[in-house]
Formats: sequence, structure tokens, C-alpha cells
Amino acid sequence: MHFPVTRMRRLRKTSAMRSLTQETFLQPSQLIYPLFLCPGEGVRKPISSMPGVFNLSIDEAVKEAAECAALGIGGLLLFGLPESKDAEGSGAWAEDGIVQRGLRALKADASLRSLVLIADTCLCEYTSHGHCGPLEGEGVDCTVNNDATLPLLARTAVSQARAGADIVAPSDMMDGRVAAMRDAMDEAGFAETPIMSYAAKFASAFYGPFREAADSTPQAGDRRGYQMQSANIREAMREIELDVAEGADMLLAKPAGPYLDVIRATRERFDLPLGAYQVSGEYSMLHAAFERGWLDRDRATLESLFAIRRAGADFIVTYFAKDAAKLLG
Ligand code: PBG
Repeated sequence: MHFPVTRMRRLRKTSAMRSLTQETFLQPSQLIYPLFLCPGEGVRKPISSMPGVFNLSIDEAVKEAAECAALGIGGLLLFGLPESKDAEGSGAWAEDGIVQRGLRALKADASLRSLVLIADTCLCEYTSHGHCGPLEGEGVDCTVNNDATLPLLARTAVSQARAGADIVAPSDMMDGRVAAMRDAMDEAGFAETPIMSYAAKFASAFYGPFREAADSTPQAGDRRGYQMQSANIREAMREIELDVAEGADMLLAKPAGPYLDVIRATRERFDLPLGAYQVSGEYSMLHAAFERGWLDRDRATLESLFAIRRAGADFIVTYFAKDAAKLLG
């Protein structure tokens, strides 16, 4: 009989020993909670595919933000459901647009200063066709016009910065958007507002529930003509390189759980702060299992987040932010 010389179990014996040897940590300040702002007052409309997540009118969003601040959550990521949509998505850059009004209301409340307010910069919630920019071509050849989208994104970013966004976060995947936004913001006097680029964003089936939440399902076709295909990682590295060269201050990888290799590769190659977005489908999938009693809610929630931190993300955008902050607190 040959007995092991190295016994890994020695360091796992007690909870105190396990704490001492813990390698990765997670704090509420590393979590960002997405909010879906909608018109009206006193509105708290449940999103059926995302239990516990709501479309919130601005007054309700302020209450939600107060809860997040009290839990020590690091920031909020704001999406908007406009009153009306058009082919260009003009609601995205309207001075009195839903996100702009939300930002002003959140900024006006001094008790919310601990939250970093991040505006998602994209047109898909505001276009009548649900794509991330104005379309060109007909029928099956119809696609988003890249260069016509750039000035619209730039305008959107400026209006978000003016309304008080601490960070703007382009999630559209148009080529050249970071440079276009940087130029426009510098010119408009927002040289100090950082850009967090969703640099490695994949065309993912895991965004399904979000599209119900943000009412942004493409009316025809899908986003594979501009978001990355899930089989590629070298392409993700090229995307990130370009965004860094264009002036991105922070990076976001998305989705997170099914793309831990992308998070790890990004961490090893780039020194910018790196976030990961645990997207709607990752949340809903876990919830479906919680509801059936197939997974332990608290343990699976934290494990899913620790995996993303271990892969190399500095912070995590997640619909579990409040649940996790309570568990960690
Ligand atoms: C907007 C955007 C999307 C998500 C974040 N920003 C949807 C998409 O690209 O289709 C998805 C987030 C989630 O699934 O939680 N472009």
C-alpha cells in the first residue's frame, strides 16, 4: 500500500483553515445591478422570464437604488424603455429620455452617492425594429449601417454624460464606436467620463429574457451580423485590442458563466479594469432550477459569481447583486 506524501485535505479540515487559504473574494462593492427604467409613476412591472426583476418607473428605481446603496452594491447599470420608438432610435439621445431623466433623479439624491451610475449605450431598446442601429438594405440583406450608427451612439453617450452618467457603456458592437464616443464626449466637455466597452460581446441565446425585459427583440433577423460568434476567442482578443486603442477605460466581457475562458484570456492580456456580465439567461436558468428545488439557491448563486471572479473579472454585472450582497453582508 502506497500512502500519499502530500495530503491536500490537511488544509480543508476546519472552516477557519479554509478561510485562511481562500484565494478569491467577493464584496458587494464589486457587484453592479441592472435597472430597467420605464415611463409612469409607481410602476413595478414583473418580468415574467426573470423572477425578482422588474421594469421600474423612475420613482421606484430611486427606491431600488436606495436598497442597493444600503447593501453596499457598487453601481447600477441603466437601461430604458422609451414611450415610443422610431427607425433611428432617437429616444436614446433625447435630453428628456427615460435614462436621462432617471440619471438626473438618481444624481439628485445625495444618499445614493456610493453608487456608480453606468448608462448602457445602445439603440436597440429605442429602435422600432429592435436592432442596435439604423438599417440599410432590404429583406434578408437588411443589416445595421455601421457608420450611420456611430454619430447616433456618440450623441447618446454625450446626453447620458450630461445627465450625470459616471460611466457610459457601449453594448452595440459597431466598429469604431469607442473612438466616436470618445471624440464626441471630449468635444462636449466630458473628457473625464470613462467608457466601459462591452468589448467582447457574443451573439448569445442567453440574452433571451433580457429582450423581454428591455422590449428589444429584433423584429426580424438576429444580431449575428454584428455581435461575435460564440465559437471564437482570437476574434474577441482583436475586438478588445481595438477598443483599447480607441480609448476604452474599462472592459466588459459578456456573457460571463459560459465564457470564463474569454474572461481569463482577457485578464492575462490586458491590464484595464475588467468586468463580466452575468446575463439574463444565466440568471433565469439558475432561477428555473431553484424553483424546482433542483439547486440550492444561496450556494449556487455565490458559486456562479465566485467562478466569474476566479476567471479574472474585477467586478460583475448581475441580476443576483442584491441577493449576493445579502449573503455576503
Ligand atoms: C443591448 C444589450 C443587450 C444586453 C445588454 N445590452 C441585449 C442584446 O445585445 O441583445 C443583454 C443583457 C442580458 O441578457 O442580461 N444591446
